[in-house]
Amino acid sequence: MPDPLVQEYLDRFATLLGPTPVKTVTVDVLGTGRRIHLKLEGHNVTGSIKARTAYGLVRGLAEDGRLRPGAHLLESTSGNLGVALASMARFLGMRFTAVIDPMITAESRKRLVDLDANIVEVDEPDPAGGYLLSRLAKVSELLDRDDRYVWVDQYNSARNPDIHRRMTGPEILDQMVTPPDAVFAAISTGGTFAGLSRCFRENRPQTHMVAVDVNGSVAFGGRPGRRHLPGVGASRRSAFLDDSLVDHLTYTSIEEAVYYCRTLLRESGIHLGGSAGAVVAACVRYLAEHPEIREPLCVCADGGEKYRSTVYSDAWLDTIRGPAAPAASRRAAEVAVSR
Ligand SMILES: Cc1ncc(COP(=O)(O)O)c(C=O)c1O
Repeated sequence: MPDPLVQEYLDRFATLLGPTPVKTVTVDVLGTGRRIHLKLEGHNVTGSIKARTAYGLVRGLAEDGRLRPGAHLLESTSGNLGVALASMARFLGMRFTAVIDPMITAESRKRLVDLDANIVEVDEPDPAGGYLLSRLAKVSELLDRDDRYVWVDQYNSARNPDIHRRMTGPEILDQMVTPPDAVFAAISTGGTFAGLSRCFRENRPQTHMVAVDVNGSVAFGGRPGRRHLPGVGASRRSAFLDDSLVDHLTYTSIEEAVYYCRTLLRESGIHLGGSAGAVVAACVRYLAEHPEIREPLCVCADGGEKYRSTVYSDAWLDTIRGPAAPAASRRAAEVAVSR
């Protein structure tokens, strides 16, 4: 049993989570208007779906008796989970150290500083083209150095997928009049997707579960490469995913993700984060091949505010693609808010 005071703080934090809104847009796919539901997880406290993940992980540590007085939370994070854990640590009166890398957005870094998190930055890319393995090596080094550190471990803790199976998935099923017939979600640790997929397999097994990864990620295996979108993709295989949870796996490019982020903002005023743009891009492609899907739902992990200097910046896109590359304004679909 957790300490009663910790338990009380955790219960209070839980009241700040969800329900996040679902907004519906209409997208022209091959000449036909198709509805897409967007679950806007940026409306969670701390600004992303990782508020739920952080809550599930920390509650698990408390239940396992690992949050003794003086405990100092430690995690490898490229942004959203760090911000969520920093908020939780303040809530619980604990210290938090975030091991970050240069992919973190300037906006997330500032939020970590504002929330009093201790920041340790690694700057050596790992052999898989990302920074995850370098960050994990730094976590091991810190754990060896000081036994007050408690590693939250979003990559291996079963509490990560479990919170999405018990909270995010049922919330979707409760709030949608017609349940989604396809669910699209981005992969990093795979926790969100694995938890949602378990929930749908248990309650509505006919729903297609579509995993969205980015080129260069090895979350499902394959050849590693350089990745640029913060929060999506991984330098190692997901510990949570197996074939039984995934009906379809698709990869998106940075251009597609940027295109849908910018188009949705322009045409509907909905401001999505980069991974959500990738998810919408994957959904549009899937709809083109699946006319039978009527109620697709995209899990949009966060909002666009903290991506002004990346996904919404032409200068940033030029540094990634080189200035000679064609503009990312390929007009693949019309997007408008449905009535
Ligand atoms: C921006 C972003 N995209 C996607 C995800 C999904 O990540 P995971 O697979 O670790 O649940 C997250 C984290 O929840 C995120 O912050």
